[in-house]
Amino acid sequence: MTTEEAHKRIEYLTQELNRHNYLYYVKHSPEISDYDFDKLLEELQTLEKQYPQFLKPDSPTQRVGGEVTKEFPVVKHKYPMLSLANSYSIEEIIEFENRIKKLIESRVEYVCELKYDGVAIGITYLNGKFYRAVTRGDGEQGEDITPNVKTIRSIPLQLQGNDYPAEFEIRGEIFFPRKNFEKLNKEREESGETLFANPRNTASGTLKMQDSAVVAKRGLDCYLYGIYGDNLPFTSHAQAIQKAGEWGFKIPPVEKKYIAICKTVDDIVAFINYWEIERKNLPFDIDGIVIKVNDYAQQQELGFTAKSPRWAIAYKYKAERVSTQLLSIVYQVGRTGAITPVANLNPILLGGTIVKRASLHNADQIEKLGLCAGDYVWVEKGGEIIPKIVGIDTTKPRDTTQPIKYIDTCPECNTPLVRNEGEALHYCPNEFSCPPQIIGKIIHFTSRKAMNIEGLGEETIDQLYQAGLIKNIADIYDLKKAQLLPLERMAEKSVTNLLQGIENSKKIPFERVLFALGIRYVGETVAKKLAKHFKSLDNIINARYEELLTVDEVGEKIAESVVNYFHEIYNLQIVERLKLAGLQTELKTNEAVLSEKLKGITFVVSGTFKYFSRDGIKQTIEQHGGKVSGSVSKNTGYLVAGEDMGPAKLLKAQELGIKIINETEFKNLIA
Ligand code: IVH
Repeated sequence: MTTEEAHKRIEYLTQELNRHNYLYYVKHSPEISDYDFDKLLEELQTLEKQYPQFLKPDSPTQRVGGEVTKEFPVVKHKYPMLSLANSYSIEEIIEFENRIKKLIESRVEYVCELKYDGVAIGITYLNGKFYRAVTRGDGEQGEDITPNVKTIRSIPLQLQGNDYPAEFEIRGEIFFPRKNFEKLNKEREESGETLFANPRNTASGTLKMQDSAVVAKRGLDCYLYGIYGDNLPFTSHAQAIQKAGEWGFKIPPVEKKYIAICKTVDDIVAFINYWEIERKNLPFDIDGIVIKVNDYAQQQELGFTAKSPRWAIAYKYKAERVSTQLLSIVYQVGRTGAITPVANLNPILLGGTIVKRASLHNADQIEKLGLCAGDYVWVEKGGEIIPKIVGIDTTKPRDTTQPIKYIDTCPECNTPLVRNEGEALHYCPNEFSCPPQIIGKIIHFTSRKAMNIEGLGEETIDQLYQAGLIKNIADIYDLKKAQLLPLERMAEKSVTNLLQGIENSKKIPFERVLFALGIRYVGETVAKKLAKHFKSLDNIINARYEELLTVDEVGEKIAESVVNYFHEIYNLQIVERLKLAGLQTELKTNEAVLSEKLKGITFVVSGTFKYFSRDGIKQTIEQHGGKVSGSVSKNTGYLVAGEDMGPAKLLKAQELGIKIINETEFKNLIA
């Protein structure tokens, strides 16, 4: 391919991928499969590496993130980011409309929109290209979080059409769709991490993350609600939203009633009432409705107060809250030993369901509320699935004013609790003999995504534990028919099924066995990465902290957790027994082993090559028994240097005296 051909192809792929991205994330009507999309993206990535001079900031490859920002630069807003006046009753909406009627003589039309519950963002476009994205901050200045916002697929990097102004700012709300939020929390639960409380705070936290690659994976989304600039080609808010849609932005669909033009206050009230009921069926959280005067000239006439526009108002839905008595607090112990306080409440109806329990999160939360035994408390169902206690109902008498004292020993095994610096939760450190931790670990081990042992559900595990037959995950593989038959609900058939289920689990691939061990912070994805990198459990057991850190997605917290896990003799004994039982502790690959010429040598591969693709070189190294690592350290045997390699790696290799070889020299090594 000539340079000119490469340039053309890059431009073609950029355009095509941006188009498919739009069809998928904005229009929800893809034309090609995910697989074909990934193939095109891969091709573009390869070409951009070979011809970095043609890499453009609006390239769809920039969506996958990777840019790491230490500190986000502070930027002054060209147009201050104001907030909206809030209202909580229909009377206030009627007053708002009356006020406007008095100030504007001609007829006024309103646009009603959803009030998305997320994080406000202002994105500047220059000549149709995504230029910069800034948070609201204090309204005067915010933080430039461009690399993170660029990963949100529904925000165009290049606009469509040709009637957009050379410079303008578009504002909207970035939010966490409920489905993606639940998925993220499920993953966290599986890897033993504390759960995020609600989509809004998580969206906000995600946008402030330093590694944009992590942001890219979380699946944030964005709706746009306002355009600011000079010489805009429209004269009303509804037209602005429509234009934004034509330029490729995700705008609220009229057919789903996410947005409506209202001519009377009755229309506005109908919109509010409709969403009061329907909002629970939306795929994202809203906390109200926004009502805006449609016409720009009328907006201008109305102007602003010090804090907010006179031409708009937010109607906020009240989170339904009820008062009930706190009966007791129970402290649950999870499989990782994390303690979660849960309030037992006098049962009460809230939002259509009877609430008996509410989460209290942690010790700080209880202290902040100033909770005392027997208090009447306000319970609310907000964005969270589990209701929460938001305050004390001070209209009710109190039994005592002595604040509840958080437990300092484990409620299950009496071991003194620990709380690590910077962590919100208390932990029971007695991981090997605290019953709920043992049972929790076994439940995790047998679960569907781990060893998937049929016939060994939570109840049976509990039964077998109580009967003294299993005290850890390795005991499962020693279970005998004669031990099981005398137990309740264990007829011949269920015993046979259970033992068959256990036998079948021996075929479960290594990466799932690794996940099943329940090492803290090692979720499904990390387990896969570790398995792929190290190939066998023994290699992971012997891996040093530094080497673990070279694995994609493994940071300090995970590396430390893996090292600690295999530092425990008890765990090593369990793992040994699992191996003897016949579980898969090596990665099964169909990549042929060609030789052992590179055995024991670790390579780092960087840059682009003439004869090999980068992945091709890596595969060849592994096929000849070598190992591939992502970063140069004193354990590196060779650095295979291609064109355009990163200067940091080269310098580090020179500094440590690592052998640097080119492609031909590499070929000679395996010849
Ligand atoms: S219009 C002058 N429209 O609500 C402010 N805001 O206090 C114009 N929000 O932080 C804002 N959905 O981020 C507008 N459809 C919508 C909105 C919306 C959510 C947020 C916005 C702002 C807050 C207003």
